[in-house]
Amino acid sequence: MTSSAQQTYNEPGKMQPVLVTGATGRIGRAVIAELLAAGVPVRALTRNPAAAGLPAQVEVVAGDFTEPESLDPALQGVRSVFLLWTAPPATAEAVIKRIASRARRVVFLSSPHRTDHPFFQQPNPMARLHAEIERLITAAGLESTFIRPGMFTSNAQLWWAPTIRDGGVVRWPYGAAETAPIDERDLAAVAARTLYEEGHAGGDYVLTGPESLSQAEQVGVIGSVLGRQIPFEELSPEEFRRATEGIWPGPVVEMLLDAWGATIGRPAYVTSTVADVLGVPARTFRQWVSDHADAFRERPAE
Ligand SMILES: NC(=O)c1ccc[n+]([C@@H]2O[C@H](COP(=O)([O-])OP(=O)(O)OC[C@H]3O[C@@H](n4cnc5c(N)ncnc54)[C@H](OP(=O)(O)O)[C@@H]3O)[C@@H](O)[C@H]2O)c1
Repeated sequence: MTSSAQQTYNEPGKMQPVLVTGATGRIGRAVIAELLAAGVPVRALTRNPAAAGLPAQVEVVAGDFTEPESLDPALQGVRSVFLLWTAPPATAEAVIKRIASRARRVVFLSSPHRTDHPFFQQPNPMARLHAEIERLITAAGLESTFIRPGMFTSNAQLWWAPTIRDGGVVRWPYGAAETAPIDERDLAAVAARTLYEEGHAGGDYVLTGPESLSQAEQVGVIGSVLGRQIPFEELSPEEFRRATEGIWPGPVVEMLLDAWGATIGRPAYVTSTVADVLGVPARTFRQWVSDHADAFRERPAE
């Protein structure tokens, strides 16, 4: 266990587990890895424990945000909760009240909707939901830390890897829009710290990668790591709507188009929060691509 984890968990018999929600998703799994590496006991929430596929040290407990009373076994004896909300909003208030009746601290995965930069200031349903959950957490009297990541680096894999693997042209809107993608490993490391280390109550952390890169430049970085040129073709917003119709949820498409469109001509908002909290620099986009290069490489024929 690290010395900082010991500060919180050093009393024998008082090793209360941290409850990680969203435990089976992209972020939750990375947060669990960081907590385990720090020697912190972890309990994971999932709707389907049989399919969780989490490390053996993790105590996996069933629960569903849409049925708040189903959370009671998972909340038993817990001090801190990592809260990640992807469920419909209707039961958020009841869930947060339930958490507040049993736990003391919540670290909530939100977004930078309070940051004064056009990329983050376009009204959208996700920002409204995050603002409402923050209000509920504060009203419930919980000690809170709000983690506000910008774009995730792994979106590059989700969005562009299939085309790049097939040797195709990346067709995308707003190639000149600049973002500063955050490596989820850094995001998870910061979230884990705030769960096991004292001193983060009231923390409000906007997390970004270390550099502003246009979307076309990000595709260029992937090409440079792979050692080949990846052709990029600009789509109009309308062409992008048509290309994603029936595949992506409409509100997500509109949220992204609004944010990219609003940021044209400006560098991305960049913070030093990862380095400030962890004491090591945030990983660059190139580093993330190098570590995930196989996801973009052509698959050998079977
Ligand atoms: N993509 C970005 O650039 C970006 C930027 C900032 C913030 N975010 C935020 O990141 C979050 C998404 O994180 P992610 O990528 O890790 O998500 P993900 O991979 O889609 O995982 C979703 C998780 O939510 C759990 N879940 C879904 N419905 C649930 C319910 N009714 N009750 C309990 N758990 C439920 C799932 O657990 P089971 O299926 O096991 O129950 C799963 O572990 C969102 O809040 C999003 O707003 C994203």
